[in-house]
Amino acid sequence: MDTQGQTKKVYLQTFGCQMNEYDSGKILEQLHALSYHRTEDPRQADLILINTCAIREKSEHKVYSLLGSLGRIKLENPGVKIGVGGCVAQQKGEEILKRVKLVDLVFGTDNIFELPDMLARSDNGERVLRTEWHPGNKKIDNFIPVFPGTRGQETPITASIAITKGCNNFCSFCVVPYTRGREVSREPDNIIEEASRLVGWGAKEIMLLGQNVNSYRAGQTRFVDLLQRLNGLEGLERIRYTSPHPKDFNEQLAQAHRDLPKLCEHLHLPFQSGSDRILKAMRRNHRIAEYLEKMEMVRETVPGIALSTDIIVGFPGESDEDFHGTLQVMDAVRFDHIYAFKFSPRSDTPAADFPDQVPERIKADRLARIHELHERTLKEIHRGLVGSRQEVLLEGAHPRESGALIGRTRGHKSTTIPGCSRKPGEIVNVEIVATRKFSLVGREVGRGS
Ligand code: SAH
Ligand code: SF4
Ligand code: F3S
Repeated sequence: MDTQGQTKKVYLQTFGCQMNEYDSGKILEQLHALSYHRTEDPRQADLILINTCAIREKSEHKVYSLLGSLGRIKLENPGVKIGVGGCVAQQKGEEILKRVKLVDLVFGTDNIFELPDMLARSDNGERVLRTEWHPGNKKIDNFIPVFPGTRGQETPITASIAITKGCNNFCSFCVVPYTRGREVSREPDNIIEEASRLVGWGAKEIMLLGQNVNSYRAGQTRFVDLLQRLNGLEGLERIRYTSPHPKDFNEQLAQAHRDLPKLCEHLHLPFQSGSDRILKAMRRNHRIAEYLEKMEMVRETVPGIALSTDIIVGFPGESDEDFHGTLQVMDAVRFDHIYAFKFSPRSDTPAADFPDQVPERIKADRLARIHELHERTLKEIHRGLVGSRQEVLLEGAHPRESGALIGRTRGHKSTTIPGCSRKPGEIVNVEIVATRKFSLVGREVGRGS
């Protein structure tokens, strides 16, 4: 019963990427209008929601094991409703309803706005499944949040905005085109309006999100044009974006990093594999020589730019030689950060049925070698940063070190500043005085620009 004025509690757990976090903000926004408040304790909740991720097998397993434990709450308190949204829900909606009898509603990635109606139906005893696509629905695509505090788990200082949804690339290993549908770019005015609202709520940094973010195009507005417009937004200090695709990364975008003061000197450009043979089987649409040329070009254009990437090891048919190619690319580029994954076969994707699947033991060994090489490189990169000046946007108190604040450099390096009396949201200049395994330690030397 959603009697106006009567508050209810929702427990929401989000898995997966920043896009899912962003969607969780939209979910909370829908529920806010129905007088739901968020609780961190599922036992206190009237409604339990899981926003799921399907990118790897492990992510999907997590959903079922969490549903198992949350289901026990429902056995004790049959009044509580359980809902499943996100990428697993989109792909496996019916299966979830069949397998987990305690689930009341399942909604796909394009169905968040149907939540109020779904809840009403569920009140009438229906088990509800909604996974239809709504192509071209402007209400869904151009939705802007109204209430501060419903934005998932991000701090108000750094906020995300999805500028595209879906993906048309169909890389042979990836589930995203099946869970997020075809690519759609949002209207630029609508994005700028959302950005202004976030800045009004205290955001200093905006992360633009898209599965293939640099292929953004709305009418005449290309990705670089959008960056340029955002750069003019008063009160905004920093702009980032993720994830661009190498095939669409060009000189213009590299120059934007050089010319737009708010666009940070950091580029996350996934290369996945250092072998052309594997890239082709992955349907990545570029060769490794092109990738390396682009990385060289961006370093020439923006000296000191921080670089990060995604890597998959153990793609079907990956030989020792192919894997060696991946290590060589790492050696050539010397990434500041990597996200490396063992290939995980996903339903609906062609690579799941490719012959020559790589044994788990070899995948694990290759992943360990990737991390070993990265940590060695990172140690050297960090050593080179000691003594340098960096601009840090302060994000909050250090969770374990009293009196210390943490923030990020423009290159996205997490930096601890002990004994810092400034406030989160401020930008300070620091000198790097020490390094930790994956982060830096700085001493304040003045207020930033
Ligand atoms: N759109 C982004 C990637 C989104 S998914 C891009 O194309 O770069 C994030 C990362 O998860 C991918 O870059 C890839 O490294 C990894 N990933 C995707 N599917 C995977 C699978 N089946 N097994 C292992 N890793 C996978
Ligand atoms: Fe997946 Fe490829 Fe699209 Fe990235 S570009 S989301 S890896 S299909
Ligand atoms: Fe996962 Fe869906 Fe994001 S599969 S990585 S939550 S787009």
